[in-house]
Amino acid sequence: MREFIQRLPKAELHVHLEGSIEPTTLLEIAPHLSHTEVEARYHYENFAEFLKNFGWVAKHLTAPEHYAIATRRLLQRLEEQNVQYAEITLSAGVILWKNQDPAAVHQAVREATAQSPIRVYWIWDAVRQWGVDRAWQAMELAAARVDDGVVAFGLGGDEANGPARDYAQLFAQARAKGLRLLCHAGEVTNAGSIWQALEIGAERIGHGIRAIDDPALIEHLKAKDIPLEVCVTSNVCTGAVPTLPEHPLRKLFDAGVPLILNTDDPPMFHTTLHEEYALAASQFQFTEPELAQLAANSFRYAFRPL
Ligand code: HPA
Ligand code: ZN
Repeated sequence: MREFIQRLPKAELHVHLEGSIEPTTLLEIAPHLSHTEVEARYHYENFAEFLKNFGWVAKHLTAPEHYAIATRRLLQRLEEQNVQYAEITLSAGVILWKNQDPAAVHQAVREATAQSPIRVYWIWDAVRQWGVDRAWQAMELAAARVDDGVVAFGLGGDEANGPARDYAQLFAQARAKGLRLLCHAGEVTNAGSIWQALEIGAERIGHGIRAIDDPALIEHLKAKDIPLEVCVTSNVCTGAVPTLPEHPLRKLFDAGVPLILNTDDPPMFHTTLHEEYALAASQFQFTEPELAQLAANSFRYAFRPL
């Protein structure tokens, strides 16, 4: 099975650059931190704590070169797993919060991707609990780079404190500017949050696991061919699901909902894309043809498929 997974050509569509930083890389970038301190930040009791620690890690990317290092390391690991295409999420909201130069960060990460055989596109996202005005600034930064590697705009952060409905106008404007649209939803709240994301035009749903609670939503996702970007280990680590066996991956798949497997923040959740496929096989009895379907989906629902 492991060899089969390794050989499968895969695409990674939901991975946050800042959350892809290994503890060793963080210590290299921020040598004043202690190993113990960093290790402690890579474990969480709940989603709120995870978000806090994600912000803490991102805060230490103080120079464009730090973003470039993170990109090179992530692409190296993806290449080892036979990932051929990636859409990487960059938190434009955090760049603005740190008062960094977005153009310099963009140039650094673009140079880093140019050296990889993986086809890479960027998703710039906003931190939804920080409000619409700041998200609007993040969107403008993304829109300015539509023909320069940025394909989509997304909403991340705390869905309970930044309802998608508040972002309807912003999403309409982003679409008008040529950006594709993404939204984390139904990760730690409910199916209603997914409905809101769909209402404002999200074309893929980040996580979306609470769709399992709403048969009408399941039918809607199937009819509109809108996929969920499922990140199983992430959901266990943040407490989005109480235990691994309770994860609805198998049920959503059997219900016919379009699914893609992703990692979210691989080292922060102690996983890899390969491990997510292996987990689907070992814990949820996915067969080789079913895993092949998930891998095919990862290309099918990409914004710039081959
Ligand atoms: N949800 C919301 N925001 C995030 C996540 C997530 O899983 N990962 C990084 N930012
Ligand atoms: Zn995410």
